[in-house]
Amino acid sequence: MEVVVQKGKKRTKFTKSILIGLISFILLFIIINFIPVKKHDDNDFIRIGSSSPDIIAHRGGAGIAPENTLEAFTLSESLGVDILEFDVRLSKDGQVIVIHDESIDRTTNGKGNVSDYTIEKLKSFDAGYQFVGPDGSYPYRGKGITIPLLTEVLESFDHMPMVIELKENDTELADKFADIINHYNMENKVIVSSFYDEIANYFYDITNGRVAISTASKTTKNFVILNELFLGNIYPLKEKAMQLPTHSSIFDLTTKRLIDSAHERNIAVQYWTINDTDMMEFLLEQGADGIMTDYPNKAIHLLRQKGVDE
Ligand code: G3P
Ligand code: MG
Repeated sequence: MEVVVQKGKKRTKFTKSILIGLISFILLFIIINFIPVKKHDDNDFIRIGSSSPDIIAHRGGAGIAPENTLEAFTLSESLGVDILEFDVRLSKDGQVIVIHDESIDRTTNGKGNVSDYTIEKLKSFDAGYQFVGPDGSYPYRGKGITIPLLTEVLESFDHMPMVIELKENDTELADKFADIINHYNMENKVIVSSFYDEIANYFYDITNGRVAISTASKTTKNFVILNELFLGNIYPLKEKAMQLPTHSSIFDLTTKRLIDSAHERNIAVQYWTINDTDMMEFLLEQGADGIMTDYPNKAIHLLRQKGVDE
């Protein structure tokens, strides 16, 4: 008889503990969701929450002209893109140059790694060589198109907002890049991106947070997971933009909830690399702030058709 009473008492105690645990968890959850998130100041060069997203020419518009070249930037600007996106690396002699890949094989008539060539040698290769036009021809071959220096791009396009991606996890690149951005007064016109959290944070620190950065890989992942768990509020973000693919592993990154969570902090959500018109249209409906595409002509046409271009 006594054994039965003891067992009953134990069970009640256990149920009580579970109940207290559950209530505490719910309370904590509610408190977390009421924590006000830090909202970034408005800026005048990235759109956030507009009905018309920024059209961002990915690699300058890699589908319409040789990627990451002055020719691509010129064409994209003439089409009316809002932002130019391109990638930077260091040459052997420490110049900041505009190129995506580690090697020059895919985009030029040369072979080998960017880091094995001086700028003088890199300039001797034809950066329009591999571009294939819609009819299968090579319309940019032999036209004197070269891999640009960052300074050349800024000299001609310093009136344009830019997303510039640090392609190397290298403090020398970040230091030189920061100096150039400062020299050309581009600090308020650039979003600096990188897949590497270390270099994005390093760049943020050396520029004392004066230049907008976007979330690098680990930061994006952490935020997305916490946001899925309705715990996004506990994750501080100094970044002013998120540049996302539409999906990553099991996560759909196009949800209104993710976009809204970013907007609560005045963070722009920009998607890459969106070349399909249906996906552009879908992202527009979801409230995306930026469409990064190889075909800015398609995106601009779509916005005009929808009557939302500004
Ligand atoms: O920054 C986003 C996007 O540019 C990343 O893609 O083309 O540099 O490999 P990509
Ligand atoms: Mg890039």
